[in-house]
Amino acid sequence: MSITPYIVGNWKMNGTRAMLTEARAIDRAAKRFPGVQVGIAPPFTLIHQLREEVTEIGVGAQDCHVEGSGAFTGDISGPMILDAGADFTIVGHSERRAMHGETDELVRAKAEAAQAAGLGVILCVGETEAERDSGRAEEIVTAQLEGSLPRTERAPYKLSVAYEPVWAIGTGRVPLVSDVGAMHRAIRAKLLEVYGADGAESRILYGGSVNAKNAAELLAADEVGGALVGGASLSAESFAAIMGAAGAGSE
Ligand code: PGA
Repeated sequence: MSITPYIVGNWKMNGTRAMLTEARAIDRAAKRFPGVQVGIAPPFTLIHQLREEVTEIGVGAQDCHVEGSGAFTGDISGPMILDAGADFTIVGHSERRAMHGETDELVRAKAEAAQAAGLGVILCVGETEAERDSGRAEEIVTAQLEGSLPRTERAPYKLSVAYEPVWAIGTGRVPLVSDVGAMHRAIRAKLLEVYGADGAESRILYGGSVNAKNAAELLAADEVGGALVGGASLSAESFAAIMGAAGAGSE
């Protein structure tokens, strides 16, 4: 990889203050891999404290409301996330698309609101197993991107796209490396179509059952600029091994 690889942990709804110990260990590990950019997206409740505890890694949220403030019980806005000390947010994760009915249009609005607040954005897309089996995965994922990419002037600069096949998330199953490469090339082509030459700036991360064993192979696939890691980011040991795989690949 010629670009700086970006390895991001998505803690999902896991972690109480006891997990700050693990975050400190992840932070110490990140120091060993200066050629790798590392981030953790803990639950909202840990963002502020985690930010106070770490120095080497970015801290992010897992979602962001489209409005800055107002009568939206239970929601958290971009300016609040920034104020808590985060520097990026994930939007459009398949768990939010599936369990909260988030549409491409809403995901796009969230990405634009997050960027307007000054946050970097990791925009997730990915096909279901039935869609993969239908042979239309690339068509479906690029259509999702077309609908969810932010379209403001600043859009391509603080944007990463995470390709996460829904059937690979938390299942221990991963696509063929050649399929990952093909999908990432299709995503790059869409980014160039939408943003022109600036579309080359965004990193495209792979996510879905990335672990210490398969990381090197997945990170070496075409146009893979990093990884979005769920389960394996909850332990410093396995997450550090993934950072190591990215660090070795970037030398
Ligand atoms: P997983 O999750 O690594 O546990 O499969 C990845 C994700 O959902 O971001």
